[in-house]
Amino acid sequence: MRFEECHCVILFVLSVYTVTVHCRNVLVLIADDAGFETKVYNNTVCKTPNINNLAEKSVIFKNAFTSVSSCSPSRSVILSGLPQHQNGMYGLHQGYHHFMSFDEVRSLPKILKKHDIRTGIIGKKHVGPESVYPFDYDKTEPKHDILQVGRNITNIKLLVRTFLQQQQYDTRPFFLYIGFHDPHRCEHTHPEYGSFCEKFDNGEPGMGTIPDWKPIQYNPDEVDVPYFIQNTSTSRLEISKQYTTISRLDQGIGLVLNELKTYGYDKDTLILYSSDNGIPFINGRTNLYDSGMAEPFLVSSPYHTARHGQVSDVLVSHVDIVPTVLHWFGISYPKYTINGIPVQPTGKSLLPVLKSEVYEENQPVFASHNLHEVTMYYPMRVVRTKQYKLIHNLNYRMPFTIDQDFFISDSFQDLLNRTRSGTKTYWFKALKDYYYREPWELYNINVDPHETKNLINDSSLNSVIKYLKQELVTWQNITGDPWICSPSGILEDKGRYKTNPQCFSADYYLDL
Ligand SMILES: *[C@@H]1O[C@H](CO)[C@@H](O)[C@H](O)[C@H]1NC(C)=O
Ligand SMILES: *[C@@H]1O[C@H](CO)[C@@H](O)[C@H](O)[C@H]1NC(C)=O
Ligand SMILES: *[C@@H]1O[C@H](CO)[C@@H](O)[C@H](O)[C@H]1NC(C)=O
Ligand SMILES: *[C@@H]1O[C@H](CO)[C@@H](O)[C@H](O)[C@H]1NC(C)=O
Ligand SMILES: *[C@@H]1O[C@H](CO)[C@@H](O)[C@H](O)[C@H]1NC(C)=O
Ligand SMILES: *[C@@H]1O[C@H](CO)[C@@H](O)[C@H](O)[C@H]1NC(C)=O
Repeated sequence: MRFEECHCVILFVLSVYTVTVHCRNVLVLIADDAGFETKVYNNTVCKTPNINNLAEKSVIFKNAFTSVSSCSPSRSVILSGLPQHQNGMYGLHQGYHHFMSFDEVRSLPKILKKHDIRTGIIGKKHVGPESVYPFDYDKTEPKHDILQVGRNITNIKLLVRTFLQQQQYDTRPFFLYIGFHDPHRCEHTHPEYGSFCEKFDNGEPGMGTIPDWKPIQYNPDEVDVPYFIQNTSTSRLEISKQYTTISRLDQGIGLVLNELKTYGYDKDTLILYSSDNGIPFINGRTNLYDSGMAEPFLVSSPYHTARHGQVSDVLVSHVDIVPTVLHWFGISYPKYTINGIPVQPTGKSLLPVLKSEVYEENQPVFASHNLHEVTMYYPMRVVRTKQYKLIHNLNYRMPFTIDQDFFISDSFQDLLNRTRSGTKTYWFKALKDYYYREPWELYNINVDPHETKNLINDSSLNSVIKYLKQELVTWQNITGDPWICSPSGILEDKGRYKTNPQCFSADYYLDL
C-alpha cells in the first residue's frame, strides 16, 4: 500500500535532508447549511464550476448523511466521530448557553497533534471547549470576525496561503479544515446584507468588496424549488439569493484549491467536501427527514484515481470522516472512556470505497438530535438503510420547534400567513402535521423518497420495524446514549445497576 511506503520513506528522507517532503495531507471543506445546489447533484440552475471540477476528481456520494441536522452538534461529530449524545455537544455552542463536548473527548485535532500532524482551522469553528478542539493554526470566531474569516473569500485565500507558506518549513503532514460561513442565512444577525448575506461585500455602494468574488445573480422564476419547500414567489426569491451566496462559497473553494496547487500539495492531499446540515428552509435544517439529513459529500484522493468522477451509492455518514482521516494517516483510534463508558466509534473508513463500490460496508446510518437553540428541545433518534428510514420522536407530544433565523425569514412567514389565512400553501404538508409528529415514523424511501406516508402501523412490515428498532437500540447502547430508555422509561445505570444498566417503565403514558 502506497501510504505505508510513504511513511517509511518520509522518515528516512527527513533524517538525511532538511527538505520539505510532501506526503499525506488532508483538507476538509465544510459549507454552512448548503445542500444539493450544484450540477454535481443534478441541479442545473445553480452554477458551481469549482465544486464541479472538484467532483471530477472525487467519488461523489449520493447517500451521504449528517449525524445531526444542527450546526455545532454536526461539527462536533465531524471532528470527533462520535454522535452528539456521546460527545456532549447537545446544541449550539456559541453565546451564553455554550454547549460543550465532554472534556474527555479525543477529537481529530487532538489525536492528530499527538501523532505529529500539523492542524489548522479557518472560518467557522463553532465547537468547544478549546482544550478538546485545539488547532495549531486557528483563524476562527470569536477571535476573528466571522464574516471576514468565513465569507470574505479573498481573506480566506490569504489565510490559507499563510498556512501553506508556513507548511513549506514544516516537516509534519497537515490537516486543514475550512469552515465556510456561506450559504448560511444572515438577516438574523446582519440584516443590512440581505437574507443570505448575498449583499455582503458584493461591490454595491456601502457594501464593500471582495476582490475575488464575482457574484452570480439568478432569476427567481428559474430556480429549482426542492420538493420540500412551498413553491411560491417568496420562496423562489429566497432561493435565488441562496444561490448568489453559493457563488461565493464555490469561488472560495476554487481559490483554496488553487492555493493548494500553487504550493504543490494537490498531489498528496485528501480533500473532503460536505455541509454541516440541511438547508435552512422548512423540513430542512433541524429535521431528520432526508431533506434535513442528506448531505453533499465529495472525497478526492490523488492516490485513488480509478473512481474519479464516479457516483457511489454506499451509505455514508459524517461519523465516517474521523476513521477515514485516521486511516489515511495510518493512525489507530485511541482506547479511552467518556463518563466511564468505553468509546467505540461506529464510523468506517471510506478509503476502500475510493477503489471500488464496497457493498458489504452498506451498514445502516444513524442520526441523533437533541437541541439546536437551547429552547429547541426536540430529541430524535433515527436509523436509515438504503430502503427504510425509522424516526423515533422521543418527545412527540411537544410541537416541533422553529429556530430564530428561519422564523423571521420571508419563506417561513409566507407559510405561516398562508396557513393562518387558509389560502393555498403550495406546500406538500400541513403545518399542523409538521409541528405534531407521531412517536415513530417509518418510510419506504424506495417508493416514497419524500417521506410522506408513515408506514409504522403496516403489519406487513413488522419484521422490518423490529429489525430497525433493534439496530437503533443497539447503536444507542454502543454509543452510550443517555436517552436510550426515553421517552417511556427510566435508565438506571448507577449503584447496583452500574454493571448491568436497565430501562424501567415509568408509565408516563398511562391516564393516571
Ligand atoms: C443525477 O441524475 C442521473 C440521471 O437520473 C443519475 O444517474 C445520477 O445518479 C444523479 N446523480 C446524483 C449525484 O444524484
Ligand atoms: C476582504 O479581505 C480582503 C483581504 O484581507 C481585504 O482587502 C478586504 O478589504 C476585505 N473586504 C472587506 C469589505 O472587508
Ligand atoms: C413552481 O411554480 C412555478 C410558477 O407557477 C412553475 O413554473 C414551476 O414549474 C413550479 N415548480 C415546481 C418544482 O413545481
Ligand atoms: C405575513 O403577514 C404579515 C401580516 O399581515 C405581513 O406583514 C407580512 O408582510 C407577511 N409576510 C409574508 C412573507 O407574506
Ligand atoms: C398508528 O396507530 C396509532 C394507534 O392506533 C395511531 O395513534 C396513529 O395515528 C397511527 N399512525 C399512522 C401513521 O397510521
Ligand atoms: C447495553 O448492552 C449491555 C451489554 O449487552 C447490557 O448489559 C445493557 O443492559 C444494555 N443497556 C441497556 C440500557 O439496555
